[in-house]
Amino acid sequence: MNPKSENIVWHAASVTADDRRRVMNQQGCVLWMSGLSGSGKSTIARALENALLQLGHAAYVLDGDNIRHGLNADLDFSPAARSENIRRVAEVAALFAEAGLITITAFISPYAADRQRARDIITGTGSGTGGRASGRFFEVFVNTPLAVCESRDPKALYAKARAGEIPDFTGISSPFEAPASPDLELPTATMTVETAVRRVIGHLEKTGILTTKGEA
Ligand code: ADX
Repeated sequence: MNPKSENIVWHAASVTADDRRRVMNQQGCVLWMSGLSGSGKSTIARALENALLQLGHAAYVLDGDNIRHGLNADLDFSPAARSENIRRVAEVAALFAEAGLITITAFISPYAADRQRARDIITGTGSGTGGRASGRFFEVFVNTPLAVCESRDPKALYAKARAGEIPDFTGISSPFEAPASPDLELPTATMTVETAVRRVIGHLEKTGILTTKGEA
């Protein structure tokens, strides 16, 4: 998005991404987790955050339900509001990644176009990203069949949605466009949380995000 005002000029940092990488033994990035409500995004995100911290890495979770209590408290679940939800989160995640954090986002993010825009914002290929460094972005599809999510129903929201008490509920009365070519897929109906966490950490190692002291 381009600024509404004209007279604002980007101020570049003097600390480089490489400087941060050396100090933090990791490269900031965004793990963008997408999936139905009840698919396991938040559970995996929290377990992953924990595991990374235990390994001495700095990670932080941005979670849909939590962000909707603050920054995005003004947004509902209409398509336009979901789009704005994802745009704002992508901007925040881009800043966190630039700061060097392994940023884990857990949002349904049901629309492919919004996820693509998030990717563009974070990798710095979108308009209006000024001089911000380009960040690494990995799309993680927490792929759990609707029937499984509905049987888990951890917040009893599917039951309410089926009873017509929640409008625009993803999977019931609002669409979910599954990622076509995610960087990682976690089928949680047949995969434990521990395995999912190991898979993600393996991906971070393989792609050079995690480094050890003196290596970066
Ligand atoms: S998104 O679609 O805009 O990405 P987000 O991840 O922020 O959604 O929020 C989803 C969470 O809000 C769900 O896990 C659920 O707890 C709650 N929720 C409340 N109403 C709805 C709804 N209509 N559709 C989906 N989730 C809802």
